[in-house]
Amino acid sequence: MRTRKLGYTDLQFTTVGLGTWAIGGGGWEWGWGPQDDAESIAALRRGMDRGINWIDTAAAYGLGHSEELVGKAIEGRRDEVVVATKCGLVWEEGGTTISNRLKEDSIRRECEQSLRRLNIEGIDLYQIHWPVPDGDIEEAWGTIANLIKAGKVRYAGVSNASVEQLKRLQPIHPVAALQPPYSMLERGVEEALLKFCAANDIGIIVYSPMQTGLLTGKYTKERVAALADEDWRKDRNPHFKEPQLSANLALVDGLRPIAARHGKTVAQLAIAWVLRRPEVTGAIVGSRKPSHIEETVEAGDWVLDSQDIAEIDALLVDRHRTLDQG
Ligand SMILES: NC(=O)c1ccc[n+]([C@@H]2O[C@H](COP(=O)([O-])OP(=O)(O)OC[C@H]3O[C@@H](n4cnc5c(N)ncnc54)[C@H](OP(=O)(O)O)[C@@H]3O)[C@@H](O)[C@H]2O)c1
Repeated sequence: MRTRKLGYTDLQFTTVGLGTWAIGGGGWEWGWGPQDDAESIAALRRGMDRGINWIDTAAAYGLGHSEELVGKAIEGRRDEVVVATKCGLVWEEGGTTISNRLKEDSIRRECEQSLRRLNIEGIDLYQIHWPVPDGDIEEAWGTIANLIKAGKVRYAGVSNASVEQLKRLQPIHPVAALQPPYSMLERGVEEALLKFCAANDIGIIVYSPMQTGLLTGKYTKERVAALADEDWRKDRNPHFKEPQLSANLALVDGLRPIAARHGKTVAQLAIAWVLRRPEVTGAIVGSRKPSHIEETVEAGDWVLDSQDIAEIDALLVDRHRTLDQG
């Protein structure tokens, strides 16, 4: 698969990376419902077998569970993958909800816990999950910089940050990577972040490129209605609710012929579309079973042509018009 250099670092990332939010499973406030651990591990290993060389996880996913599964999946294969995880979201022992905390003692404790769960000596990319509370981001960043000096972390990244926040972090320690949302339905990153990161040699690994599954082409209204009650998408993801849902499913129907004329799927098209931007280092692609990643890994080498991009632009304009009129 194609690779792109992550910002100023010496890391070459495959254009598709492995996302692990969903495999954290249910039982917490941002869970994705029932998930089979053996399938999760098999999915990660299948992705590695297919050449994907980085995994994104977070302490919060499944309240530590996702990190534990990543640790199992990479056992004996540590040299094949870059491991990226995140800090700054914490939970009480026995609880199901998370809260933001960026204080030094907390980040240090989180780092030790992540290393233990992942069963590794050092974290390749340690990211602030959410820059909240804003007043504490410098403290968290300085702490991660010290963890780098201590050899526990290789590079520092931040997720969901603004240009202003990146500017505050840069003088303390260079930002290796930003992790923002990016998909056909969430294009905010195009306004200023892509340009700023490219100009400052900051890598960009984008999340939810298939809009948490909606842009795979596998969803219908019936399937959305059948999502497990404990799947956060059911009630908390506006893209899965009306009026957006109908407009989004209409968009997917418009994407089908574009994908089909290349012998590809809508899921692959959604990923290839975010990769059309050269500022994007890679797409973080979630999968819950081996067949998911078997399909989506193919997007890593697909370069859209100008006609594809123009047609998608037109579909997105139509979608906006429909929603504005509604
Ligand atoms: N930093 C942050 O704040 C943040 C936020 C979100 C995500 N992330 C990271 O980015 C990763 C990717 O984003 P994401 O997982 O939210 O969304 P995504 O990659 O857009 O969608 C992943 C979901 O799509 C469905 N899917 C995947 N491949 C499929 C296939 N071939 N056929 C049918 N369905 C398929 C699966 O869910 P179903 O089968 O249930 O539909 C899967 O869990 C996350 O796992 C996480 O590592 C980070």
